[in-house]
Amino acid sequence: MKETNINVLADTFELYMRKGKEAKEKGNITLAKRNFLLASETMMRMAQLSKGNLKEVRMDRARRLVEIADNVGKKPAKIDKKNDDEEDDDIKKWQTAQIPDIKFADVAGLDDVKKAITIKMINPVKYPEKYKMYAKKTGGGVLLYGPPGTGKTMIAKAIANEVGAKFYAVKGSDIVSKWVGESEKNINSLFEEANKQDRAIIFIDEMDSLIGKRGLDTHNDKRVNEFLQQIDGFAGRNPNLLLLGATNRPWDIDSAAMRSGRFSQKIYLPLPDAPARKFMLEKNMKGVPVAKDFDIDKIVEDTDGYSGADIEELCDRAKDEPLLQAIATDSVVLVTNEDFDRVLSQMPPSVTEKEMQAFEDYNKEIGNYIKKKK
Ligand SMILES: Nc1ncnc2c1ncn2[C@@H]1O[C@H](COP(=O)(O)OP(=O)(O)OP(=O)(O)O)[C@@H](O)[C@H]1O
Ligand SMILES: [Mg+2]
Repeated sequence: MKETNINVLADTFELYMRKGKEAKEKGNITLAKRNFLLASETMMRMAQLSKGNLKEVRMDRARRLVEIADNVGKKPAKIDKKNDDEEDDDIKKWQTAQIPDIKFADVAGLDDVKKAITIKMINPVKYPEKYKMYAKKTGGGVLLYGPPGTGKTMIAKAIANEVGAKFYAVKGSDIVSKWVGESEKNINSLFEEANKQDRAIIFIDEMDSLIGKRGLDTHNDKRVNEFLQQIDGFAGRNPNLLLLGATNRPWDIDSAAMRSGRFSQKIYLPLPDAPARKFMLEKNMKGVPVAKDFDIDKIVEDTDGYSGADIEELCDRAKDEPLLQAIATDSVVLVTNEDFDRVLSQMPPSVTEKEMQAFEDYNKEIGNYIKKKK
């Protein structure tokens, strides 16, 4: 009995660790912290079931996990390459960009977005002779914008996958903060590196922090100018180098970057509508033991206004109680609608109505008419 318990706990521990790491990678600090703490708790229970040396080792590991949870998302005190694993990681990623494994079909809803991207980014690469025949303009970049957690990063990866392109993902804020004074040089080397590939996508997340409005500070202005030069130099000439930006603060981006031939196309990613929420809920609950009367449509209704990232977190948290009970009783405990209701009552949508209003105002301003969906 004791042995099976340890095994179940060990599996649970691994699960929390994996989720913690995934959340950390995605930048979801709250979720990462939670999972590392849950992993620590599980490790502590394993320690309680152990004896002697093993007990010590496990207790120690549990304690260290609390520290790790505490430190997720905190910037290291000083920028020192040798002591900063995270920075090393980023540089490595830059040099050996991978083709991501997310597919268009994994992205819920957003049909208009997928269509626009297919026309602008995927088909020109797949059917260049057809584009020539129709004298269709190619090149330039696309800016994805919308509230947090609506799938901007996800769809960027899916595009890279669809066209088999190496994916260079950088965060505007990283370029700026890690190499203060060197960001122009880094923008340059990034474009050079990507340009060497047969097909590459440069994906710049948090575009607003890389190319804010000019005239506010000189560092920013230099960066913006360098960036615009790079776009004009490379992106136009090399049809296999695609430029993709994402932001949830489009109004902060320098308007020169949006001119034709640059990020001329702006695509809005709204909050998920009902079918998209259903798709996500089903995906997150796939294979999970649920009650016979489990009513997913009720959750679809209750989550109007929630983002894709919210829905992922909701499902994750709803599983916590049944999972803990399953461990405690060493049996299968079914997930119910009540588990969802409990979490929903403590978890308002992460995007506020005020923020949504800001997007609606911006869309009106740039003449981007969006049909309202429930
Ligand atoms: N349309 C979607 N389809 C499927 N999953 C989604 C969708 N939108 C969001 N998600 C889920 O939410 C998570 C976060 O999405 P993503 O990182 O793409 O958001 P984002 O728009 O880039 O947010 P941010 O503005 O905070 O960078 C994804 O890992 C995915 O699980
Ligand atoms: Mg993102």
